[in-house]
Amino acid sequence: MQVYSLISQKGGAGKSTLARQLAVLVSEVEPSLLIDRDPQQTTTKWWLRRNELAPAPERPGLLDLDGGSLTEAVRRLRRRPDGVLFLDTRPAVEEPEAEAARVADLVIVPVRPSPDDLEAVGETLKILRRLDRRAVVVVNAAKNDSRATGARAALSRYPIPVCPVHLADRTVYLDASLEGRGVSEMRGVAAREAADELRQVWNWIREVRDEQ
Ligand SMILES: Nc1ncnc2c1ncn2[C@@H]1O[C@H](COP(=O)(O)OP(=O)(O)O)[C@@H](O)[C@H]1O
Ligand SMILES: [Mg+2]
Repeated sequence: MQVYSLISQKGGAGKSTLARQLAVLVSEVEPSLLIDRDPQQTTTKWWLRRNELAPAPERPGLLDLDGGSLTEAVRRLRRRPDGVLFLDTRPAVEEPEAEAARVADLVIVPVRPSPDDLEAVGETLKILRRLDRRAVVVVNAAKNDSRATGARAALSRYPIPVCPVHLADRTVYLDASLEGRGVSEMRGVAAREAADELRQVWNWIREVRDEQ
């Protein structure tokens, strides 16, 4: 099983959104699993809403560590021949997030294209570099293309790959969140566009992961 951790000090960057959306997208073709390491339990609550759908989708699964060691759990999961695990974390980069970074093949850092968020992400990237973890940045919730392009230009000063595709600011992500779904499971043009950009982001992330 491959392992990806969503990490950023900043709240609201899109960690939980990306963890859930990517987990649903991946689940279309292979097993996918979520672990929620944030006491706010945003992803767990989404998963519980999802479980109330009729019929309740089988994937992604949610693994409750129940106080157990993340490192141990991931060591066991890695023995599985296929599938992808997404680890959602708190808005912090302290020891629990460092552990999530250490057990991951690749860390995904979402960032909103606002000046404040772009400035704050530097600290997250610095800590990840100190931990010697491989990371990528994904611009999330851009109101338009030029904001995303500007953000990518600002991020190019860091020695970390920046995804050439961004996720736009779309209400369909909020609708999906409320319904316990992924955008790839929703109807309509907006959902299709969202699923398409998400797929491109995911394909890029996987390519980077494979460039070992
Ligand atoms: N691309 C997006 N378009 C619209 N809303 C978004 C997008 N990404 C995130 N959001 C919303 O922004 C809020 C914060 O996102 P979230 O994923 O919970 O951030 P984090 O987990 O990093 O704190 C949520 O309400 C979420 O639905
Ligand atoms: Mg969150």
